[in-house]
Amino acid sequence: MPLLAAPTITAGTLAALGQPVLPMDGGGMLRPWREADAASVVEAYADPHIQRWHVRRADSVAEAREWITLWRRTWQSETAGHWAVTADDGKTVLGRLALKSWDFFDGGAEVAYWTMPSARGAGVAARAVRAAARWALDEAGFQRLELEHSTANPASCRVAAKAGFEGEGLRRQAARHADGWHDMHRHAKVRQPGREHPSPAGSPECEGKGGL
Ligand SMILES: CC(C)(COP(=O)(O)OP(=O)(O)OC[C@H]1O[C@@H](n2cnc3c(N)ncnc32)[C@H](O)[C@@H]1OP(=O)(O)O)[C@@H](O)C(=O)NCCC(=O)NCCS
Repeated sequence: MPLLAAPTITAGTLAALGQPVLPMDGGGMLRPWREADAASVVEAYADPHIQRWHVRRADSVAEAREWITLWRRTWQSETAGHWAVTADDGKTVLGRLALKSWDFFDGGAEVAYWTMPSARGAGVAARAVRAAARWALDEAGFQRLELEHSTANPASCRVAAKAGFEGEGLRRQAARHADGWHDMHRHAKVRQPGREHPSPAGSPECEGKGGL
């Protein structure tokens, strides 16, 4: 069935561009993962907080290397961008920033992140999210970035707010963690705030959608 609107981003554009290195305000960068980062990935996933919120552990450097291979491939398949967040030296891994679930028609992606325990509390996560959002919305052509965290993770909520992602409400029991289902607080940042398509005059937001 022919589409009646053009995709927000043309397929092939970002694969052809290659994964960029993104500088962060105040120092450090987002750069593509390297095989040599595998030991840092194992260290990160040994942290109980990362295990809690990302619901995974890495059992060996070899396994982490396999993840890194998969993370690198997603750029060419235009499904996600996975970056290591590093210090100025480009080697010391401070964290992870991912833009996942690319949707080129609507222009959407989802933000995910963690920081190494030793790097926390210094604004790294918020600066990494800002750098990725700036690239995605201002350069790559994405229209909307979503970010979700459990309501039991207030530090992540603070990161979202500091990076300029507005709260959009709650998705009840939307994510499964090791300790059960969590309500998820959704945030989003859009390319052109204030340019949302208006509801019909006098019509509440949800009226008239029953027949879709
Ligand atoms: C959440 C996480 C990414 C934050 O990383 P970070 O580099 O420390 O983040 P920042 O320094 O940019 O900001 C953290 C903010 O949370 C605040 N914070 C930390 N713990 C908090 C808590 N228990 N309650 C409320 N706020 C908290 C900090 O004070 C800071 O805000 P401030 O700058 O206004 O003081 C990091 O703690 C982490 O990796 N946690 C485990 C994995 C995870 O939660 N990932 C996100 C899943 S959605």
